[in-house]
Amino acid sequence: MSELRFPDNFRWGAATAAYQIEGAARDDGRGPSIWDTFSRTPGKVHHGHTGDVACDHYHRYADDVALMAELGLRTYRFSVAWPRIQPDGTGPVNPRGLDFYDRLVDALLARGIDPIVTLYHWDLPQTLEDRGGWTTRETAEHFATYAAVVHARLGDRVSTWTTLNEPWCSAYLGYGNGVHAPGVQDPGAAFTAVHHLLLGHGLAARALRAAGAQTVGITLNPADVRPADPDSAADAAAVRLVDGLQNRIFLDPLFRAAYPEDMLEHVARIVEPAFIRDGDEKLIAAPIDLLGVNYYQPTYVAGRPDGAGGGGAFPGTEGAVDFLPPAGPLTDLGWMIEPAGLTRLLERLAADYPGVPLLITENGAAFPDKAGPDPAGEVIDADRIAYLEGHLRAAHEAIARGVDLRGYLVWSLLDNFEWAEGYRKRFGIVHVDYLTQRRTPKASARWYQEVISRNGL
Ligand code: FCB
Repeated sequence: MSELRFPDNFRWGAATAAYQIEGAARDDGRGPSIWDTFSRTPGKVHHGHTGDVACDHYHRYADDVALMAELGLRTYRFSVAWPRIQPDGTGPVNPRGLDFYDRLVDALLARGIDPIVTLYHWDLPQTLEDRGGWTTRETAEHFATYAAVVHARLGDRVSTWTTLNEPWCSAYLGYGNGVHAPGVQDPGAAFTAVHHLLLGHGLAARALRAAGAQTVGITLNPADVRPADPDSAADAAAVRLVDGLQNRIFLDPLFRAAYPEDMLEHVARIVEPAFIRDGDEKLIAAPIDLLGVNYYQPTYVAGRPDGAGGGGAFPGTEGAVDFLPPAGPLTDLGWMIEPAGLTRLLERLAADYPGVPLLITENGAAFPDKAGPDPAGEVIDADRIAYLEGHLRAAHEAIARGVDLRGYLVWSLLDNFEWAEGYRKRFGIVHVDYLTQRRTPKASARWYQEVISRNGL
């Protein structure tokens, strides 16, 4: 295959999230989060795994940063655990929680690694959930206060801020089908949460901007939604509905200051949308400088006018839509491997929502990595290398077609707590032995190191 070079200053790095790697769940005044509660609820997480210890990154961050530097990473995206900063989600600030991120940022900068802070990667303080969580407007307001608190401590050294990670998951999986914390199963609550998450983003973006943050953004998981049969009108209607629920319901208010009409009608069939108040859409559309894109696989759907569709995680699709089982080569999570979907998605975002630079904030794959570290201390994850290479080529293709893509962050630096899957699914380019906490860079880590040093493939 031909050689590819990425633009100068392309941001190369890796991403993680607090609950998935930090552990230290009770250290230094951290309050409980909805994931502490959820992971302790029988039957919710594989084998009852929890994030209590995870990768013990809270205590091992200095070594982990040294490893990042050894691998040549230039950027590191991590999330701040709200319950470390405000144990009850509101009220008193816990300085020891801020101290941890302060040390982490200093360690990164000392190694020349640019930090990107995600303010919310799903670990809502439990106290706020007890008061209704994202189904209440207050949570959005508290989120903006918390954002300002974190910025006041780190803003002198961190220039890139993103508010939320994948509000689709927080809303639809957290409050719709209950597969994620807090485990609520109520389609109306899911849409209420969508709105308050977006409002929280807008208020936080405004607060960050007012405090002088240089680059402010949000990370979504927009999908490339495809019809089972490109010639079927029913499938085209299903694409329109699922695209609305996955993409436009988030992107339109963010970039056009208005929910799409068809989505307002869809939501109103499920819940009285009184939670959308006059002026909210304007607040949500606070100008941003960056859109983070998490991409793993495309979504294929078929329309079922006979009312017999299985539906999916999308509230209100029951009966109307079949989600096709993934086909072709699959990852260990049963996800499809279709790099062309990334090119299509990036081009679509650039065309429909022009003017905002894009950053791939997550892309990667779980594979069994069965061998574990071999006696020579290596994990030969050729399947992961192939996945990453295919997606980097797809990202490059989008750039060649004119998309303003600024960088690529692999998910993930370390094997970690993969939410409802617990520790059984491994996404890291670095292997973690959970008994000893030993880190072993996989072959993919060495391969990625080469890619970064050449700025290409
Ligand atoms: C994304 C999440 C991330 C990780 C990957 C596999 O949806 O943002 O935390 O779980 O999926």
